Amino acid sequence: MKHNSLPIRLPVLVLFLLALACSKDSGSGKEGSDDLPTGPDWYRNAVFYELNVRSFQDSNGDGIGDFVGLTSRLDYLKELGIDALWLMPITPTPFEDSGYDVADYVGINLDYGTMEEFDAFLDAAHQLGIRVLVDLVLNHTSDQHAWFQESRQDRDNAKADWYVWSDQKGREDIGCGPAMPIFGSDPWEWDPVREQYYFHRFYPGQPDLNFRNPEVVEATLDAVRFWLDKGVDGFRCDVIGYLYEAADACEGLPETHDYIRQLRATLEDYPDRAMVAEPTNWGETAQYYGNGSDEFHMVFNFMFGYFWGSPMAVGERTALETAFMNGQRTNPEGAQEAIVIGSHDVARAYDAAGGQLWRQWVVAAIQMTAPGTPFIYYGEELGLRPGREIVVDPRDYQRTPMLWSDGPGWGFTTGQPWIAFGAQPETTHVEAESAQPDSMLNYYRDLLAFRRGNAVWGTGEFESLEIDNRSIFAYRRWNGNEAYLVAHNLTDQPQSGSLEEWDHPVPAQPAWGEGNASATGGRLQITLPPERSVIYKLR
Ligand code: NOJ
Ligand code: CA
Repeated sequence: MKHNSLPIRLPVLVLFLLALACSKDSGSGKEGSDDLPTGPDWYRNAVFYELNVRSFQDSNGDGIGDFVGLTSRLDYLKELGIDALWLMPITPTPFEDSGYDVADYVGINLDYGTMEEFDAFLDAAHQLGIRVLVDLVLNHTSDQHAWFQESRQDRDNAKADWYVWSDQKGREDIGCGPAMPIFGSDPWEWDPVREQYYFHRFYPGQPDLNFRNPEVVEATLDAVRFWLDKGVDGFRCDVIGYLYEAADACEGLPETHDYIRQLRATLEDYPDRAMVAEPTNWGETAQYYGNGSDEFHMVFNFMFGYFWGSPMAVGERTALETAFMNGQRTNPEGAQEAIVIGSHDVARAYDAAGGQLWRQWVVAAIQMTAPGTPFIYYGEELGLRPGREIVVDPRDYQRTPMLWSDGPGWGFTTGQPWIAFGAQPETTHVEAESAQPDSMLNYYRDLLAFRRGNAVWGTGEFESLEIDNRSIFAYRRWNGNEAYLVAHNLTDQPQSGSLEEWDHPVPAQPAWGEGNASATGGRLQITLPPERSVIYKLR
């Protein structure tokens, strides 16, 4: 089914508008001959890459990316400097929400290959030292899932209580309906078979599971063990705050946190696994870390990742500072933020930058040097342009195929791609950008090479600097071994500024980027050319 437009609510509304418009030093480092970041803290020093298997590399000419194709591109990812992947859903699905409608938690989407091909891909990734997280969509299943098909049969089958059913539209013990759907205008859908309504926060084809039933808790944790037994390195957990509903609230309930702790305990039974939360209440993400070690390893910082376009457009740093300081103030010890500048849900970075490539350069430099673990969304490293075709819903504009080389299928497919390519493919494919010294791809390669192997970026301390020019966003990062000064010009004009009370000597030459910083008489002076960032190594 195609959803051309979605009546939706905040913050999802904001998310869609964006889409349419546009020292707790772990010291884990890289060890071992295969360069796999090892130890329980591996994720803190890794660079992640989110990708849509469907759009990465087709191997058999059917126009759909697959595991064999993805396996053939692992060298590219390795060379780029990627340590870990997050794969968008790879389980069977009717594809009403691009796989976020799961029809079988322990199966594989045959469009992408067989389970054996997935296993071979996982093995090949591990051989190269690349870890793999898969998407875990727990709040809801597809209405095609066998659990729902059984549940809908009547009111007293074995799974009758696995979903959220009601005789009326609405239930007194669920405060988030009917006034609070996420997609569409009504979270209650009539089922003609069972002759009752069922609750869904997302599309009607995505009924919410009833986590108040202990069998649902067990069954979902069994699915989690299935993937961990296979050797996946962890999960990106979809809308995790929504699992439980109550009369007065439907987000981040105590019961939801109880479940997350069980999920974490399940991961702890396996060595070196990690999970990252998709928060729904973006301004209050500290809760998803629990005590710092009993809930999520990482939580996305969407206040930066989904909103950087505005401060970059006006050239004023306040929103950027706030986005990072918020976590510094509220997160428990041990928290690790996951830093994005785009995703499958929001406009591509190119759009968020208003088509001004320099804004993406600067924001990528922020992403790679801010406190946390960066997650690159596939194609960002090319400055991939938005698409123009909708197969499922308007978010398809940022889910178009990777562009690898010249030619009709741009190296992605020898057949007809499942969706039209993004704009300007002739100048934004890997081959073309590799040959062009000042391309986005070469910028990312350089930036990632600079960042690599240095724990200060993932886990060092962070202090935002009160430079007296608010078009400069500057901060200090440090740990026991090293310290850096980082400064970004948020505009296309030269900018200068200073800071009183600075007692760190600044070397003559920057370690990376363009700009000038000096320390004299206890004062820091920074001058930046238009559209540039600079990094100085202080010690
Ligand atoms: C969040 C996912 O990122 C989004 O793509 C999906 O539509 C919803 N959750 C529902 O699963
Ligand atoms: Ca294929």
